[in-house]
Amino acid sequence: MALTRRSALGLLALTGATTALSGYGRVRAKSQVGGQPLKIPHQLEGKMTDGAFHYDLTMGLKKTRFVQGVDTPTYGINGNYLGPTLRLKAGSKVKINVHNFIGSVSTLHWHGMHLPASADGGPHQMIKHGASWHPEFEVRQQASTLWYHAHQVHQTGFQVYHGLAGLIIVEDEQSTALDLPQDYGVDDIPLILQDRRFGSNGAFEYVSSMHDRMMGMSGDQLLVNGTLNAHFVAKSNRLRMRILNGSNARFYDLTFSDGRVFQHIASDGGLLERPNSVRAIRLAPAERAEIIVDLSDGKPVAMTSSTPSTGGMMGRMGRGMMGMFRGGNEDFKVLDILPDEGRRASAIVPGKLADIAPPNLEHIAKTRNFVLDMGMGMGMMRGGGGQMTINGKSMDMNRIDEVVRVGTKEIWQIQNPTPIAHPFHIHDVQFRILDRDGKTPGPSELGYKDTVIVNPGEQVRLLLEFADYTDPDRPYMYHCHILEHEDAGMMGQFTVVA
Ligand code: C2O
Ligand code: CU
Ligand code: CU
Repeated sequence: MALTRRSALGLLALTGATTALSGYGRVRAKSQVGGQPLKIPHQLEGKMTDGAFHYDLTMGLKKTRFVQGVDTPTYGINGNYLGPTLRLKAGSKVKINVHNFIGSVSTLHWHGMHLPASADGGPHQMIKHGASWHPEFEVRQQASTLWYHAHQVHQTGFQVYHGLAGLIIVEDEQSTALDLPQDYGVDDIPLILQDRRFGSNGAFEYVSSMHDRMMGMSGDQLLVNGTLNAHFVAKSNRLRMRILNGSNARFYDLTFSDGRVFQHIASDGGLLERPNSVRAIRLAPAERAEIIVDLSDGKPVAMTSSTPSTGGMMGRMGRGMMGMFRGGNEDFKVLDILPDEGRRASAIVPGKLADIAPPNLEHIAKTRNFVLDMGMGMGMMRGGGGQMTINGKSMDMNRIDEVVRVGTKEIWQIQNPTPIAHPFHIHDVQFRILDRDGKTPGPSELGYKDTVIVNPGEQVRLLLEFADYTDPDRPYMYHCHILEHEDAGMMGQFTVVA
């Protein structure tokens, strides 16, 4: 794709030096104590006119101070880095005005939303610099934590890495009636986890090696809502956290520093049927979880993360064969939680959260197979980072790979013959996970999902229902949500037709 002069300038500004740095290098955020108050993205509730809620989003080329005295070139939406949290009401009509001033073409995709393909914001809904896009849709889904992000073909990794992402909170009547924390920024807080690598000039470093291309881009510093080394003062004894893994490639195993048990209450597509008591939760890129942590003991605690080894063999190959392995098993402190005075009652979570019927396997119209591949042979040797494919084909905007009939249910079988795990994501639907290699998933995976981890050598079966919205010309995407894999072609297109 030819770069316009403007977009070339944009890229230059993002990668070039901006400030001469004194003493700032690869500071380990986790070794610092105290840190900075957790930034809470501003929340947009929309302005009601003509029966619809209107939202305005402007993407721009900005600078952000993640570290004192250092300007990092970033993209932001209505701000310097990341975007506001959009609060949507189930059943309402939504109109969004998206303006693009980042200096190059982009898109904005509503990840997890069920909506018409023309409003999806995937690679076909391009917005040129200086132009705007006005999707409209009805919120036909249950309460959930979703997100939005750039989806420009071959540029998604770069654009999201520099800040084009934000959260969506859908609320509905059943969920607001539940006795759950729901005071945004107070006892109901968003946590957008993103690992980043800073160059010595303060700019983000993006993809500089074969390892970055093959394994996806990972960093050695953790940003939470764009905050390095974040802490949060909790005023309640129950804290709800809406966690988004907004990283390009890193998986996180999240725990608390004292090993405390917490309640997992929601997955990608909404509340689980009942809370699930756990000590750890794994999130792959694009996955979300809502959890409730009990702070009634009044003790400070930290959320911590480690990186599961999801790519053992690749890791070893990277180290051994090419000697460029980096970004291994970093541990991060995600967030220091400091309870303030005066909590007493212990934190109770409702025993029943939602009605979720078990997957119904009657009347399956079709079963489709998807095989993920990384072109480990020739492509890797050529040094291009391999040819990333699904069913042997790399993404082609002009090729519709699958055609689905509206009003039907299908089973999609995702196979991963590669040596690393891939988070597989499907637009338009919230699906159910039927099994992994024939085994029923654990309680955390029994709810609605739009992204699923497919481990090395594994086959995962998904149940999808295509309830409405048809468009014979405009496709939805399915892809690996390691953004460098997506950009390198591990993505396909499907239409839903009448
Ligand atoms: Cu989160 Cu196709 O996207
Ligand atoms: Cu999506
Ligand atoms: Cu992948």
